[in-house]
Amino acid sequence: MPANDKTRNAPWSGRFGEPATELVQRFTASVGFDRRLAEFDVEASVAHARMLHAVGVIAKGDLAAIEKGLAQILSEIRAGSFPWSEAHEDVHFNIERRLTELVGEPGKRLHTARSRNDQVATDVRLYLRAAIDQALALIKSVQRALLELADAHAETVMPGYTHLQVAQPVSFGHHLLAYFEMLARDAQRLADCRKRLNRLPLGAAALAGTSFQIDRLMVAKELGFDGVCENSIDAVSDRDFAIEFCAGAALVMMHLSRFCEELILWTNPRFGFVELADRFCTGSSIMPQKKNPDVAELIRGKTGRVNGHVVALLTLMKAQPLAYNRDNQEDKEPLFDAVDTLTLSLAVFAEMLPGIKVNREEMEAAARQGHATATDLAEYLVRKGVPFREAHEAVAQAVRYAESRGCQLAELKVSELQRFSPAIGKDALAVLTLEGSLQSRTHLGGTAPVRVKAAIAKARKSLA
Ligand code: ARG
Repeated sequence: MPANDKTRNAPWSGRFGEPATELVQRFTASVGFDRRLAEFDVEASVAHARMLHAVGVIAKGDLAAIEKGLAQILSEIRAGSFPWSEAHEDVHFNIERRLTELVGEPGKRLHTARSRNDQVATDVRLYLRAAIDQALALIKSVQRALLELADAHAETVMPGYTHLQVAQPVSFGHHLLAYFEMLARDAQRLADCRKRLNRLPLGAAALAGTSFQIDRLMVAKELGFDGVCENSIDAVSDRDFAIEFCAGAALVMMHLSRFCEELILWTNPRFGFVELADRFCTGSSIMPQKKNPDVAELIRGKTGRVNGHVVALLTLMKAQPLAYNRDNQEDKEPLFDAVDTLTLSLAVFAEMLPGIKVNREEMEAAARQGHATATDLAEYLVRKGVPFREAHEAVAQAVRYAESRGCQLAELKVSELQRFSPAIGKDALAVLTLEGSLQSRTHLGGTAPVRVKAAIAKARKSLA
């Protein structure tokens, strides 16, 4: 991109005695990254021009010329032949300049009753609205993949963990559904952010609006906004929506990172719960035997990047006086990168899930360690009339005994168990099994396979 001709030709150059230096041009230019907004800039300009004509500010012929020019610009942008130039600062000036080059005077009328301040705010909202729609679709595809896997493993037993120590047996399907819930909340958050951002800033002009009797509702309708930003000063200075989006994206990434961390642990032979498909792993340049879970690690790592963007945007906006300040140009790179990182991570994650091979035997064997059904025995005693605190104590003693014998609680004989509580009968053995433990948890939100199946059915409906 040439930065050759000086800013002598900038639309604002009339006020200045000399052009900006080459360094200042390079420093202030944003077209290198904000050209990503180009299609939205054209879309908003078309709507603005139509409105200007509708309220009698520009003639029919001017509108026709502007529409024709912008249509050509759009196809140039799509074809990759648009002549972007850093000398023209940003996406808005590049497009306006090209329009005037193509259609002459009507192009010079387009910027009536608007400023780049309300223009950029509009473009970013249009861009982010589309990005959110894409992210929502990707979240759904991850959720669908989770449901498929959960359905196949409603009856697969795994050790549920707290403190990363074996806690109680759970259905692997149930464990997967926990992530479904996280993503359901994430989707709600992004949809909520979309609702709030879907308002039109255009018409605020620089900050104080315009002396023309513009029809903002017409432009809002044409661009699919639910309404207008009610205050012109707020319209050009608000970047809440970008921060909200990044915060929502950071939560999604945090959730993915938790799952990725588990995959990384589970693929370690010490766990051996799952195997990732080869196509989602990479090898080592020196150690021939290695198969590393790099995709999961990268998602985990990229989470930090999105967290950083939230902080960057909050810091950008902190203490900014009203209304628009050029600082705001710095909102784009963090926002764009958050969008890219989120959508790419979701896409690769959705692809990786179906390739997970689950080793049921290993999972179940791990659940047999760590006295995972001790709580079931305590609850059994409660049903026999023992107060829970006493039951807890009795089972704790039995666990100590099992530990001293080097065996599992579930491996003790009834006669041995009875030493710790006379309330223990033969039927206690059934509650100590993994199946018994799982199947007893049939309440709403529980891990019993029948309940997990019901939860999957409900989840499927929520996606439809
Ligand atoms: N490139 C600028 C941005 O991204 C557009 C708005 C510039 N407005 C101005 N008055 N300098 O924020």
